[in-house]
Amino acid sequence: MLFSIKNLKYKDILNIEKLNLPEKKIICIVGESGGGKTTLLKMLNKLVSPDSGNIYYKNKDLSEIDAVTLRREVVMLSQSPSIFKGTVKENLLIGI
Ligand SMILES: Nc1ncnc2c1ncn2[C@@H]1O[C@H](COP(=O)(O)OP(=O)(O)OP(=O)(O)O)[C@@H](O)[C@H]1O
Ligand SMILES: [Mg+2]
Repeated sequence: MLFSIKNLKYKDILNIEKLNLPEKKIICIVGESGGGKTTLLKMLNKLVSPDSGNIYYKNKDLSEIDAVTLRREVVMLSQSPSIFKGTVKENLLIGI
C-alpha cells in the first residue's frame, strides 16, 4: 500500500478508522466543503500531524520518517499556486 491509515483522529475534523490508498492509482477524495479533504492531504506529507492514530507510507510509520525526506517523495500542490516574478523558466530555476 502506498498509504495506510489506522484509527486516525484530528480535532473534530477527521476520524478515520481505516483507509488504504494503493500505489499507481488515481484517487479522488470527495466531500462537502470543510469536510477535511485538504486536512487529510496535509497529513500525508506531515504538514499536519494527527492527534492520535497512525499513517503508514510504504509500510513505514510517518512518525518515523523525517519530514524533509518524506516531502522529496510526497508533494502537495496547493489549489492557489504561488508564482514569483519573472518567466516560468526563471521560476523553475529558483529551485535549482
Ligand atoms: N489550521 C487549522 N486549524 C484548525 N482548523 C482548521 C484549520 N484549517 C482548516 N480547519 C478547519 O478544518 C475543517 C476542514 O477543513 P478542510 O480545509 O480540510 O476542508 P476541505 O474538505 O478541504 O474543504 P474545501 O472543499 O472547502 O476545500 C474546517 O472546519 C476548517 O475550518
Ligand atoms: Mg480543501
